[in-house]
Amino acid sequence: MAEGDATEEGVTADITRASARLAQAGRLTVLTGAGVSAASGVPTFRGAGGLWRHFRAEDLATPGAFARDPALVWEWYDWRRSLIAACQPNRAHEVLAAWSTAHRGFALLTQNVDGLHERAGTAQMTRLHGSIWTLRCWNECGAAPWANRDVPLRPLPPRCPSCGAMARPGVVWFGEPLDPLDLARADQASTCDVFMVVGTSAVVHPAAGLIDLARVRGAFVIEINPESTPVSDMVDLSLRGPAEVVLDALASC
Ligand code: OAD
Repeated sequence: MAEGDATEEGVTADITRASARLAQAGRLTVLTGAGVSAASGVPTFRGAGGLWRHFRAEDLATPGAFARDPALVWEWYDWRRSLIAACQPNRAHEVLAAWSTAHRGFALLTQNVDGLHERAGTAQMTRLHGSIWTLRCWNECGAAPWANRDVPLRPLPPRCPSCGAMARPGVVWFGEPLDPLDLARADQASTCDVFMVVGTSAVVHPAAGLIDLARVRGAFVIEINPESTPVSDMVDLSLRGPAEVVLDALASC
């Protein structure tokens, strides 16, 4: 059952408790979602102002949507790339990046495609949903995915440099499997002492399933989120607040 006391003393006690757990943790795994980039100005998907409030995922983030209207899908990704390119990593990214080099047993699993963890200098990370800064051949000609940071992206849709077919964003869409290597890394990282869940609504699988997996394997699970989520009741400690504030407090302990 999640603990968490909303009074000022309660919040301080929870931070102290989390900090003690972190200090003892040989293996620390952090799962992040869109909320970790909210303070950077990157829109989340659900909740007030979330992308899925204004756009239908079925029209923009599925292989079927791309097959039907690649120009529309690319316009949306090109818009998101421009928006993200103007954003900077925030304090939450910075704290996690510092932990990633300071803790030998650290692993970061992110659902984010924005590249802000990388820009903050995070080591030991797995991008479960790919990267908006990577392109892939839609025809699967065998060319390796390639990096592209052009903003705006031209021509639109872009082309595969190897075979000339249309390129697609290097992200995982709804209905697509995750890269088996990433899944294997995530599975391995879910065996840990502390599993921290930061800024995710915990509704998209298989990423969300890692939380219960870690718990069943004996990890102490800490959630950092200003709102409650479907996993809030099963975590060991809920730190109610924005990631950039709570992680800063933990880093200062
Ligand atoms: P969501 O938009 O579903 O959830 C964002 C979460 O961040 C919510 O629980 C918010 O309460 C929380 N939040 C907002 N501001 C925050 C802050 N400053 N600090 C901490 N938390 C904050 O985003 P994800 O859970 O990442 O997948 O979504 C999972 C996946 O669904 C995404 O990777 C994407 C999306 O559709 C694909 O596109 C495949």
